[in-house]
Amino acid sequence: STSQSDTLRTPIVAVLGHVDHGKTSLLDKIRGSAVSEGEAGAITQHIGATAVPLDTVSQMAGSLVKPEDFDLPGLLFIDTPGHHSFSTLRSRGGALADIAILVVDVNDGFQPQTEEAIDILKRTGTPFIVAANKVDTTPGWNPQQGEPIQKSLEKQSKRAKSKLDESLYQLIGELSDKGFSSDFYWRVQNFQKNIGVVPVSALTGEGIPDLLGVLMGLSQRYMKDEMAIDVAGPGYGTVLEVKEERGFGATLDVVLYDGTIHAGDTIVVGGANEPIVTEVRALLQPRPNAEIRTEKRFDKVDEVRAAAGVKIAAPDLEDAMAGAPVRVVGDRDVDEVIREVEAELADIEVTTEEEGVVVKADTLGSLEAMANALQEAEVPILRAEVGDIAPRDVAVASTAREPEHKVILGFNVDVLSNAQDELDKGEVKLFDDDVIYQLVEEYEEFVDEMKR
Ligand code: GTP
Ligand code: MG
Repeated sequence: STSQSDTLRTPIVAVLGHVDHGKTSLLDKIRGSAVSEGEAGAITQHIGATAVPLDTVSQMAGSLVKPEDFDLPGLLFIDTPGHHSFSTLRSRGGALADIAILVVDVNDGFQPQTEEAIDILKRTGTPFIVAANKVDTTPGWNPQQGEPIQKSLEKQSKRAKSKLDESLYQLIGELSDKGFSSDFYWRVQNFQKNIGVVPVSALTGEGIPDLLGVLMGLSQRYMKDEMAIDVAGPGYGTVLEVKEERGFGATLDVVLYDGTIHAGDTIVVGGANEPIVTEVRALLQPRPNAEIRTEKRFDKVDEVRAAAGVKIAAPDLEDAMAGAPVRVVGDRDVDEVIREVEAELADIEVTTEEEGVVVKADTLGSLEAMANALQEAEVPILRAEVGDIAPRDVAVASTAREPEHKVILGFNVDVLSNAQDELDKGEVKLFDDDVIYQLVEEYEEFVDEMKR
């Protein structure tokens, strides 16, 4: 019955997997977009969110998802980065998820971040299915645009089929090494005991009907009880981005993972200096099937229920931090909610030392990713902060003892004009890039050069 969809929470589906295995492309195919093509360095470096309504799911899935069989309003997909530096964003994506798609390139098989993703899913107890992606690259493949996978398999040569089977059985073996029993999804009876493997192509759309069918079936069958709780309670969310919007000033892109938020609600948000207490001026919802990271047109709404991506406009959000919690106060004591937000923020901090480099990044997630990448490269950090490069950062960097540490590494941030004046004096060197590993490589090359 569709009347229930008013009270059921949209399941959150995290898409996890190794870099370049096709997570963003898979979502692009489902929502009919081209987000992957616009990404710097062709890698995902932020968490994204897209609400896909039931009717889109059933359109894509054809006979495999009949809308009348489902009470769920749709699915909220969370895209995560596969590059190794972004373990925090993967964990956060995993922690938000009710269910996950583990994307594995059939040719490439299990890779380090596939294993890391599995560990996250184990730790959080998140049920998942495996999308064995890029089946179209099998030698001799005869593409069947958008068809269910079994229909496509019927059209393949014996040779192509057995080549693909070989890769798929290898995948099933790798899952078994990790302690999971799995099988081709059409042979799985109980998806709680056995992981379903769905062969797909994000390029041709083959197998995507099956993937959506299995996801919807799993959500409806095993998670309906969990989805029926407390959507009317105070909203809980995570800030994805802090963005300037014309006419609104600083706004927040948020994934609301529990409860409800209304225009006019008092909220507490994690800020650079202290928690921000403010009142929601407007709630702006991305259109269905739009990635909140790239959406340009939003609908103004009075309330938003979990799970959803939503842009929040409110006064005093300039110091809000991406990656920080957002809480609706509701009828609770505001001080209690402030303490909750402080406790959650304390869990995500970068360790700094007496001597080292200065790091600035656009979000808490990317700051942590930078810190991880620098730790791996054995580069100590003197100061790590979210925000644009300010004169104070140049002053701090100039206090480093070692010349190789008199630097600022900036990821996806701007240089404030008065900070540029300070940099022009030449004592402190700035490295900036919008791809983390390139930024670290550039710095390492500079250090090598210096020591030569
Ligand atoms: P990160 O977010 O950086 O971890 O990568 P990703 O997993 O999101 O991979 P992405 O979707 O950006 O795809 C990586 C590359 O693989 C792109 O060049 C895609 O066009 C290509 N690709 C993805 N899926 C398929 C597929 O099914 N078939 C083929 N032939 N190419 C694919
Ligand atoms: Mg991606």
